[in-house]
Amino acid sequence: MKKEIYDTYKVFTPTQPAINTFIERDIKVNNHLVDSLRTPGKQVVIYGHSGCGKSTLIINKLNQVYENTIITRCMKGMTFESLILDAFDQLGRFYSVETKTNGFKIAPEINLSYNDIKASLKLVELNKSKTITQKEFVPPQLTPQRLARFFGESKSCWVLEDFHKIKGEEKTRASQIMKVFMDMSLEYSDLKLIAIGAVGTARQVVEYDNEMNNRVSEVFVPYMSDDEIESIIISGEKLLDLRFPEKISEKIVTYSCGLPSICHQLCLNMCTNRNIYQTQKETTYLKMGDFEKAIEKFADEKSDSFKADFDKAIKVPNKSLRNVPKAIIKAALKVNKDEFSFDDIKYHIEFKDIPSKEIESKLTQLCRTDRGELLIHDDNSNLYRFNNLFLKNWALMQFRKEKEDVLNIRNRTDQKVIDRLLEIIEKDITDEYDVYIEEL
Ligand SMILES: Nc1ncnc2c1ncn2[C@@H]1O[C@H](COP(=O)(O)OP(=O)(O)OP(=O)(O)O)[C@@H](O)[C@H]1O
Ligand SMILES: [Mg+2]
Repeated sequence: MKKEIYDTYKVFTPTQPAINTFIERDIKVNNHLVDSLRTPGKQVVIYGHSGCGKSTLIINKLNQVYENTIITRCMKGMTFESLILDAFDQLGRFYSVETKTNGFKIAPEINLSYNDIKASLKLVELNKSKTITQKEFVPPQLTPQRLARFFGESKSCWVLEDFHKIKGEEKTRASQIMKVFMDMSLEYSDLKLIAIGAVGTARQVVEYDNEMNNRVSEVFVPYMSDDEIESIIISGEKLLDLRFPEKISEKIVTYSCGLPSICHQLCLNMCTNRNIYQTQKETTYLKMGDFEKAIEKFADEKSDSFKADFDKAIKVPNKSLRNVPKAIIKAALKVNKDEFSFDDIKYHIEFKDIPSKEIESKLTQLCRTDRGELLIHDDNSNLYRFNNLFLKNWALMQFRKEKEDVLNIRNRTDQKVIDRLLEIIEKDITDEYDVYIEEL
């Protein structure tokens, strides 16, 4: 049988949804999502920490259930109008100027109405300099109801990525679109809106009324289990005819901390380091040296983002007398356990007079993306943990550096920083980590 040849960049996809190496998620999550996609009138909210695999999961599942998908990527500052216009624009691929030529059997009057609106938008475009400057102009005919009809006729569903980035009044207005989709689903049973957000609860993604409760499915995507991460490696091995020795594969799993993108990036780095750009003619074995180079490259490329995340986490107003987030992170390190509780933090925190309420609220903040998601909270066990080993030990390194600065030790060069970080992480996952913690 002829071997199928895959491009390495299509197998290990650290910055894109995985298609070839897509690993089926936990059966409960999977069934919940697929049921919601299949149930007429059910709207869907997908939430979970950033990078846990929300987009990948929905894209793979939609491929199995829906013919057409329109994806709108929400960005900070986007308005209700810009969402409507983005969807309207993308729907253009189903609507033709010639009523007869559209392949989807779209009702002629709906097609006509689409093109009417489009024409009026064009007109505005022409006069833009004179009339509209600030807000996007939406023709009055283009109501959410009308938009829902355009979706319904073309049998497509609407995915709103990063919906949590829409804020304030715009969010309240945009959330109402979900209600419209719900109501209109009597007419069009395929009509569905899927909102995705990298946040801790579904309500942080979309604001919806209690009356909508049982018509919205809240699907939580957890971090990947070690077995799931390992499956990504195994899948990549098969597609590219590679072998990752068990020792290496274990290390990749440990370093990934449940984040599939780290796994993809490390595997990809190992491949490119060995000039493996496609499926191998003969089985190729990767070595520990490849792994070491891969991890160094990873840490080097990510060091700016570790720094940015850590800085976000410890940012306090200028006039603050003390830095509570910083004290919490230090305490979290001092606990020296994989997972820790609020009580652990309270016990180890250096300022004993901080009210419990404040510690609690700052802990919650540290789990948010605007605080670099330094910590993760597990709702079931009510325990916290560091997002990943890199961020954790970046923090540790900063605290140690602060101490050393006091002793007037010169700042290290970049390469040394990376070496140091990797050395500490290695200690963290093996032993001798206690000395570092004691010195805090
Ligand atoms: N089920 C899976 N099987 C294999 N790889 C996966 C899977 N899910 C996610 N990945 C990989 O993990 C990385 C992150 O996935 P994805 O972008 O889907 O996460 P996300 O939750 O949407 O992240 P964000 O919150 O940043 O939008 C990507 O590199 C993707 O290829
Ligand atoms: Mg995503």
